[in-house]
Amino acid sequence: MTATQLPPQNHADVLRSIEEIEEQTARMVAEKSYEDRLRTLSQASVDRHFDAFKDIDWDNPDYAIRLDDPRWVLPEVDVLGRTEWYRSLPLEEQIRVGLYRQANITKVGLQFEQVLIAGLMNYAFRLPNGSPEFRYSTHEATEECHHTQMFQEFTNRSGMPVEGGHWLLRKLAPFLPLAARWVPFGFFWGVLAGEEPIDHVQKSILRAGDDMHPLLQRIMQIHVAEEARHIGFAHQYLQHNAPRLSRVERAVLSVAVPVIMRWLCDEILVPSRKAQRDMGIPKSVMKELYWKSPESQKFLRDLFGDVRMLAEDTGLMNPVSRRVWSAMGIGGRPSRFRSEVASAAA
Ligand SMILES: [Fe+2]
Ligand SMILES: [Fe+2]
Repeated sequence: MTATQLPPQNHADVLRSIEEIEEQTARMVAEKSYEDRLRTLSQASVDRHFDAFKDIDWDNPDYAIRLDDPRWVLPEVDVLGRTEWYRSLPLEEQIRVGLYRQANITKVGLQFEQVLIAGLMNYAFRLPNGSPEFRYSTHEATEECHHTQMFQEFTNRSGMPVEGGHWLLRKLAPFLPLAARWVPFGFFWGVLAGEEPIDHVQKSILRAGDDMHPLLQRIMQIHVAEEARHIGFAHQYLQHNAPRLSRVERAVLSVAVPVIMRWLCDEILVPSRKAQRDMGIPKSVMKELYWKSPESQKFLRDLFGDVRMLAEDTGLMNPVSRRVWSAMGIGGRPSRFRSEVASAAA
């Protein structure tokens, strides 16, 4: 069932839907065997999915993007939005920078999803008949295609000249999906490196703001709903396959994972040089934000509570890798359970 052309929703409905999704995903992963869990995730994709052009009423006048709309001012939960520099900009400039930032994050998100879709196809290509991973991977790729359409449509309608990720990510994009065929275990860690920070940021924005623009709210709500399953699958895959790793693979991955996590997180969250220029962010502000100030360092660590928990569960935390996690600025206590509120897991 897809809900057709849903009108804008109120904040209480959005909060309720996030809770519902989290409960539903927790129930799914509590199923007995790995195969059963994957079948449940696949069925959930059949039962509840979204279409970029059916489920968003793009031409609803309430969804129009206008440069005099103060709802584009970045919220306090955004690292850039809470800086002195941003807060002291004139209102029109706060709106322009706010919309640019949302459009750029959306563009990076869809570039990441393009890599993910290509990787899922490489991964699924060599799976045997009857594999529950094949079916779920293709559901996930279908959903990601809708996300890329939804994100690109938003980017187009924003009118902002964003180009998304940093130069290196854009150059490496055609090659990254090959990892899914050769080192699927490493690839699914990469998937989490992209999905966890975006999901974490979107959920905190949805939870915090009841005066956000309804179009962005709708897009984030759809995205968070489907990402819960994608993240659930990556966790399941990694937990299931961890015992099959050789000692050498485990040792190499234990130190490679925090480096991949930090790199991809920076790709997604830190504005590229062009984005910095277009938004006019002073160098000193960039330095403080990414990631010199104690506040931003805590934000960075908080993003990875669930991932640290998974690294513990899959035997990838050892005295050496713990140091690498800390050196990357993403060390700390693991979450006690998935989606534990970040400040408690810091
Ligand atoms: Fe997505
Ligand atoms: Fe996803």
